[in-house]
Amino acid sequence: MTEYFHYQQDQLFAENVALNDIAKSYGTPCYVYSRAALTDGYRQFAEAFKSRDHLICFAVKSNSNLAILNLFARLGAGFDIVSGGELQRVLAAGGVANKVVFSGVGKSEAEMRMALEAGILCFNVESAPELDRLNAVAGSMDKVAPISLRVNPDVDAKTHPYISTGLKQNKFGVAYTEALELYRKAADMPHINVTGMDCHIGSQLTETSPFIAAAEKILALADRLSASGIVLEHLDLGGGLGIRYDDETPPSIAEYAQALLGTLQGRSEKLIVEPGRVLVGNAGVLLTRIEYLKHGEEKNFAIVDAAMNDLMRPVLYDAYHAIQPLQKSSANKQCYELVGPICETGDFIGHAREMAVAQGDTLAVMSAGAYGMSMSSNYNTRPRAAEVMVDGTQVHMIREREKVSQLFASEKIIG
Ligand code: LLP
Repeated sequence: MTEYFHYQQDQLFAENVALNDIAKSYGTPCYVYSRAALTDGYRQFAEAFKSRDHLICFAVKSNSNLAILNLFARLGAGFDIVSGGELQRVLAAGGVANKVVFSGVGKSEAEMRMALEAGILCFNVESAPELDRLNAVAGSMDKVAPISLRVNPDVDAKTHPYISTGLKQNKFGVAYTEALELYRKAADMPHINVTGMDCHIGSQLTETSPFIAAAEKILALADRLSASGIVLEHLDLGGGLGIRYDDETPPSIAEYAQALLGTLQGRSEKLIVEPGRVLVGNAGVLLTRIEYLKHGEEKNFAIVDAAMNDLMRPVLYDAYHAIQPLQKSSANKQCYELVGPICETGDFIGHAREMAVAQGDTLAVMSAGAYGMSMSSNYNTRPRAAEVMVDGTQVHMIREREKVSQLFASEKIIG
């Protein structure tokens, strides 16, 4: 629970709006974001890094709603994208191309062309064949592509294996031992301009030590590079700072920044960071209504109207999300499995939660602002949830609930 989502006389509020009022007006399932929480998170980041030249590139994949991208763009953010689609979103939301870094292991020619046309800040190149392709595509457009190599520092991020990216066995980046040679090759390419070095070791990190270990390895490599005459303009240390879902104790934004700044002392390169989750995770909740309470032989089930298609994190990573009633009750608590309507045993939102609830109650699934809506799907032909943003006493619809007709509008019946 944060100051932005809090109880007033046993009713859960987002800023100054009762979440029950939102559930009534906009229906459920519904994602609700706090504008103040989003703004505050971004400002904390900017404040923490202000002593040096830096650029905060919000990781679009964590939450790609145009209203959220627009808010960050107006606060001065750049963006970390991983597809041509994300680039189009950033531009549609008012973001500027020259603050965009493009990560990802599988950039297509079309995506490269689009990004070169737009004039992005940097391609974070993840392999030798990608570098060759980028040089060729830029050449065909008579352009020069600014690049970093994403170096895999072989550091254990100590997080869930599916969201750990900086180990030798992961598919991401260029091997540490091969990076120098590839940099030399890149520097000789006519349509490539080497401008930086990049790493990203994983997500939901709850300690600073892996960030420091990765940064130190990157700095050592940058020094060897400059000794061979290739001088970098920026260092991009990726994203990954974790948040509190349950009882985790991640470093604060200020502590994280201090750790990075300490490691970077005396360096002149511009610093780029790519935070996602920490800027949006605790700025959003998912509202869901209890359709039925079902008392099975061994377990009690609260069957809610949100499902794994709306929030995939529980089934995919066994992730924990706190679940709060919108109206606190003094009735006796019972232990429930919170499950959705989808036909899969993995369709759960939470296991073994002690709650005093009744059919028809609405609940808030907390910490759902990151990798919630952006990973949602239409499985079971379920239209995607609505999204709203609260700003003080006001509520703005920022994405209408999808209609079933939209889901099959581009499908064709053949004769
Ligand atoms: N930069 C790159 C290159 C990334 O791949 C990612 C996330 C980020 C930045 C942002 O990381 P963050 O600050 O959000 O940790 N779906 C998973 C998380 C996947 C993260 C993928 N990459 C989840 O729900 O936990």
